[in-house]
Amino acid sequence: MMQFITSIVAILGGSSTIPAPVSGGLVVDTAPQTPHRPYVLPNLKGAAVDFGGLIIRTLVPNVTSSGGLSIVSVNSGPAALNLIHHHKEVEAFYALKGGVQVFHNSDQGRQLQANDFALLAPGNNHTYRPNDLDLQLTLCMAPGGIDEFFTSASNPYSSSAPFSPGHPSQLNITKVLGLMPQYNIIPEPFNTINTDWVNGTTEDGLDTWQVADQTLPSDATKPYFISSNRGPKYLSHDAGKVIGQLVSPKQTNNKLSVATIAMKSGPKPAATRFNVDQAFQVTEGQLHVEINSETAQLIFGDLVFIPRGTLFKYWSTVGFTKFVTWSAGPGLSDNLIQGAENWDYAVWPA
Ligand SMILES: *[C@@H]1O[C@H](CO)[C@@H](O)[C@H](O)[C@H]1NC(C)=O
Ligand SMILES: *[C@@H]1O[C@H](CO)[C@@H](O)[C@H](O)[C@H]1NC(C)=O
Ligand SMILES: *[C@@H]1O[C@H](CO)[C@@H](O)[C@H](O)[C@H]1NC(C)=O
Ligand SMILES: *[C@@H]1O[C@H](CO)[C@@H](O)[C@H](O)[C@H]1NC(C)=O
Repeated sequence: MMQFITSIVAILGGSSTIPAPVSGGLVVDTAPQTPHRPYVLPNLKGAAVDFGGLIIRTLVPNVTSSGGLSIVSVNSGPAALNLIHHHKEVEAFYALKGGVQVFHNSDQGRQLQANDFALLAPGNNHTYRPNDLDLQLTLCMAPGGIDEFFTSASNPYSSSAPFSPGHPSQLNITKVLGLMPQYNIIPEPFNTINTDWVNGTTEDGLDTWQVADQTLPSDATKPYFISSNRGPKYLSHDAGKVIGQLVSPKQTNNKLSVATIAMKSGPKPAATRFNVDQAFQVTEGQLHVEINSETAQLIFGDLVFIPRGTLFKYWSTVGFTKFVTWSAGPGLSDNLIQGAENWDYAVWPA
């Protein structure tokens, strides 16, 4: 592992490029707007706004990742179809719970349930419609900036409730449309979507969605969907981990890497670090992290932001822990995959 890290550092011009992490209390209520500052943000914390009934919480602000990515969470009940649009950034959805329909161009769509994933490739039209009583979705855009759009375009939201059921707020469409050019979001209200779905998918996904293995495209122009545990998987024998790859740098021209990591319990390991900003969000079990001699325990929905160059330890003391890694370039999951074998299962062998 050290060899791999050293090689990344070498590519980027030596260890002097790694900034020292800014210290402060690890667990926060609101994501800091400061680059190089590690933090743990508990589930349903974070600056929140009401975007027409969707409650958007900023998990990783654009400025905190130095422009690398923005991560926000979306909580909502059933809601109207969002405006069809496209932009030059890569956008990715990971459903934590509930359900949402995601539409890509005029021909593709999938029903995302917990642990399903969508990659909305740059320049392609897309939209979505929450359709469950309790949806929670993590949305990432790379490069970042979308958190600032949501903050500017929405109304304030101050409740600790995930969202306000039965009381959708009205979006000011004039304001939203007026802000879009500033964030390079191009509305395509005349684009059509395909709502001819069977078993949660348009025809192209019938043989695979939720029922068979799915592959990642070989270039960065194609949108795609990966249902829970059905993407490429790798077993890291020594580490006792199964890595489920959702996006490698190949699908995003090095802008974003996303994976799930399922891990067994084990002792506290040696510290590691990467030369890329990363966030881990727990979906099952409990993850321990240690940064700057401070330890935190993360459960469902809790997120840790680990700026590039930060030394950290991560481990689990419960039977099964799973988290999603969001990385603004090759990161932890890519490193683990390098030393891992192909694996057909979602859990490690007995
Ligand atoms: C995102 O952050 C970067 C670096 O701080 C900045 O250059 C860029 O303008 C920001 N993007 C938006 C949309 O504000
Ligand atoms: C909607 O936004 C526009 C543009 O920002 C503003 O002029 C208008 O007053 C807003 N309407 C309401 C009802 O707040
Ligand atoms: C997006 O929608 C517009 C309007 O229908 C269409 O002209 C354009 O070709 C679409 N883009 C893609 C990539 O399909
Ligand atoms: C939909 O799913 C059911 C249950 O798995 C299956 O029997 C059926 O063939 C599927 N429909 C299509 C059109 O594939």
